[in-house]
Amino acid sequence: MSHHILVLNGPNLNLLGTREPGIYGSETLVDIIEDLRGYAAEREVTITHLQSNSEAELIDAIHSARENVDGIVLNAGAFTHYSIALRDAIGGVGLPVIETHLSNVHARETFRHTSVIAPVCLGVVAGLGRDSYFVAMDGLLRYLARRDG
Ligand code: DQA
Repeated sequence: MSHHILVLNGPNLNLLGTREPGIYGSETLVDIIEDLRGYAAEREVTITHLQSNSEAELIDAIHSARENVDGIVLNAGAFTHYSIALRDAIGGVGLPVIETHLSNVHARETFRHTSVIAPVCLGVVAGLGRDSYFVAMDGLLRYLARRDG
């Protein structure tokens, strides 16, 4: 069965490649998403990708996803740690969402240990670098296959 997955990246993730490479790696977001699209296509999955530095735009994308998307891989960046509005958007649409991070947020500053979105997400993947996106998508697809029988 073919699926449509929304991959959402939040603030500052457009800087991947040059942003703190010791933490986030030296690959650009464009390269990661291109590989993810290939990986998805092999599994009959279509990806729509949006990166935005705007909380409002991310919320609008989550709302629109209700219409034609089966699930969301979401790296909300710093919004993860404080955006109740993003949390309410996720809870409001009822789609399965995997909270995703390149870095192991639990091994970093204490303010990164809190996620206000985790309680309304299906699961969390963190700390695997670029592989976090692939593992998150695998988890989402396995969940959808089980749910839809
Ligand atoms: C991040 C972790 C967040 O704490 C940080 O604000 C980011 C990136 C990650 O992918 O590791 O912007 O979400």
